[in-house]
Amino acid sequence: MENKITELLEKRRQALEGGGRRRIAQRHAKGLMTARERVEYLLDEGSFEEFDMFKTHRCHQFGMQEKQFPGDGVVTGYGTIDGRLVYVFSQDFTVFGGSLSETFAEKICKVMDMAVKNGAPLIGLNDSGGARIQEGIESLAGYSDIFLRNVMASGVVPQLSGIFGPCAGGAVYSPALTDFTIMVRGQSYMFLTGPKVVKAVTHEDVDVETLGGADVHASRSGTAHLAADGEMEAIGQLREIFSYIPQNNMEPPPRVESEDPPERESEALAALVPENSNEPYDVRHVVGETVDDGRFLELQPDYAPNLIIGFARYDGRSVGIVANQPQHLAGVLDNSASVKGARFVRFCDAFNIPVVTFVDVPGFLPGTAQEYGGIIRNGAKMLYAYAEATVPKVTVTLRKAYGGAYCVMSSKHLRGDINYAWPTAEIAVMGARGAAEILHAREIAKNPDQGRDILAEKEKEYAEAFANPYAAARRGYIDAVILPQRTRFRICKALNMLEGKQDANPRKKHGNIPL
Ligand code: COA
Repeated sequence: MENKITELLEKRRQALEGGGRRRIAQRHAKGLMTARERVEYLLDEGSFEEFDMFKTHRCHQFGMQEKQFPGDGVVTGYGTIDGRLVYVFSQDFTVFGGSLSETFAEKICKVMDMAVKNGAPLIGLNDSGGARIQEGIESLAGYSDIFLRNVMASGVVPQLSGIFGPCAGGAVYSPALTDFTIMVRGQSYMFLTGPKVVKAVTHEDVDVETLGGADVHASRSGTAHLAADGEMEAIGQLREIFSYIPQNNMEPPPRVESEDPPERESEALAALVPENSNEPYDVRHVVGETVDDGRFLELQPDYAPNLIIGFARYDGRSVGIVANQPQHLAGVLDNSASVKGARFVRFCDAFNIPVVTFVDVPGFLPGTAQEYGGIIRNGAKMLYAYAEATVPKVTVTLRKAYGGAYCVMSSKHLRGDINYAWPTAEIAVMGARGAAEILHAREIAKNPDQGRDILAEKEKEYAEAFANPYAAARRGYIDAVILPQRTRFRICKALNMLEGKQDANPRKKHGNIPL
């Protein structure tokens, strides 16, 4: 017996060394964690239970039969985060550059299947040189098996990705199919084709960082939801997102004890939105004043900053926040903002997370760049996402809600449950100046000398009629005009009232969201 135990312990020791001490030392020298260290840092201490530690590849070409590493380059299993079950895989760059073999893929598929069967989130820590070149098609089959499972798990269990090193070629599609992706600045990159292929095909000279570094994906492509300074920060961000989301699509998100009283008033709120409706302000201050303890986990902060999204809590309940940001492009909706908002609302809806929307939007961004970029199609995504969402939807119109953008931003007409407006709200087809110019263009043209006076008078007339929340309130499109300082209390109350909300969409195979 003793011999057998010694043998087992020896095998485990070997497996724990991954690609060997030398390679581990090289990574540590570069300031990088190993695959196992990342898992340990991610999960509650001592909670990790590993699967398939002794699994090896079955490749017999290119001398591969001589090169066997127990575990085959990926650490898989389950554990807990804050006591909640989670499945993980962590790619080990010290074994064949973390490249994906048939057996490597089988190990990932096993934890994905278990995550779905047992209704728990999956977190993938990626660090891989891509398809294992020695295996060829087996490796591509392995990727496809993972992609299929990503799609099947989508909307069933939350899927999070951390990118800690290379993630190139077909490998990018697994994280891209997951709900949230976090990258580490200066050490991780994602692209379909690397700099050499780019140079050969387009003659463009570009380095890995500029092509697919964390900042590029966090600001330009929208592929990354957050860019972290270092691995520890990235893992901390994964844990933070995890704290807001439920185990699966049948469960509510975790509710935490809140010490911030729901009835807390904030006198600062009234002063945050400038009287002049063209003056910018930072809507994050409004969000910060109303949510529990001012804590707001903003996602994609540098991508389409004219719309902000993220998680927060009201009276301990998780919510998804969506808000127009007047500080950037006056808070207009453009292509990127629409895609950003739509995907986030759909995530929240899939996972029973109420959506709280703060509206201050002058409309959609005009121009050929936007029209050619598909603003009709993309704006429709946002509309679609809000309309189909059956989770509680609470909307607060702070200032402008003009035109089509009014309809889109969680309006009553798209099944908004509670639609509040501040007294400063202007719910209209367009701004007063624009309306006066269009309606009275002929009159102004006929009397050029008095043009300015006519315009000012008509603008005032239009503003009095529409630059307020009361026309909408008279029709019941706004449920209540509220005092700004009472916003938190009203939202908490609404969410409490909506806790048992039941709503459904017609039976269908799936809708056809404009993609
Ligand atoms: N298949 C098999 N082995 C791979 C591999 C792959 N896709 N990618 C890396 N490796 C191996 C390397 O051969 C090397 O092995 P060794 O330590 O025994 O010499 C080890 O992993 C580390 O790779 P290395 O190239 O030394 O690391 P690096 O940090 O300098 O570069 C990459 C990392 C990912 C940029 C580079 O390895 C690379 O370009 N890999 C191929 C990417 C690719 O084209 N994949 C297939 C398409 S999806």
